Amino acid sequence: MLLHACCHNPTGIDYTAEQWAAIAEAFATSGTFPIIDSAYQGLGHGMEEDAAGMRAVLAAVPEAFIAYSCDKNFGQYRDRVGAFYVMAQDQGALDTAFSNANALARAGWSMPPDHGGAAVRIILRDPDMTAQWLAELDDMRARMRGVRDALAKAGTAGRIDLTPLAHQNGLFSMLPVTKEEVAQLREEHGIYMAASGRINIAGLTQGNLPKFIAALAAVAG
Ligand SMILES: Cc1ncc(COP(=O)(O)O)c(C=O)c1O
Repeated sequence: MLLHACCHNPTGIDYTAEQWAAIAEAFATSGTFPIIDSAYQGLGHGMEEDAAGMRAVLAAVPEAFIAYSCDKNFGQYRDRVGAFYVMAQDQGALDTAFSNANALARAGWSMPPDHGGAAVRIILRDPDMTAQWLAELDDMRARMRGVRDALAKAGTAGRIDLTPLAHQNGLFSMLPVTKEEVAQLREEHGIYMAASGRINIAGLTQGNLPKFIAALAAVAG
């Protein structure tokens, strides 16, 4: 079973610590194999906080896969940087997973470009750069939290209740808008979002929020 570690895409709705504990227990008792997709660590509540659910699962099961992306938390989207972690019960299982992963990588891209990975490696091997990166990540998280809080503070835009956005995490949230309203936002107000109503919180600023809220109220009255 595949789960997102934090900052669920597209809803922004994450499990609570109690829910993660129940999920970890369910993995352990059912023998279901966990695959955890961690693409936004540090952009929800903090580096440790965002890994806590994943750690609870890993502590409860003998084997798991983690798919880790550095694309958002290191700003490496165009370089596609990440890692694949395997937790195995014994060396034989680990060797099997490793040779299968190698075969897939070989068939898929063979030799990936090194630039993005090298940037992450250089930063993580240097304590000063790591501290600077973590501070910048804190700024990004606080900025997105500020946008979420401001949206929630607006209360409603037309029939849309914005208050739940304050309790969601990361880059994305879903607005209950129709495809026609999304088209109207684009054509009449120059505001772009996915046809599903998924918005990118990072695309909003305190400066453009009033315009966004007013446009939303105009189309979703
Ligand atoms: C949950 C999730 N996992 C993985 C990815 C992609 O990761 P990567 O950019 O490392 O391919 C995304 C979005 O880009 C995502 O939302």
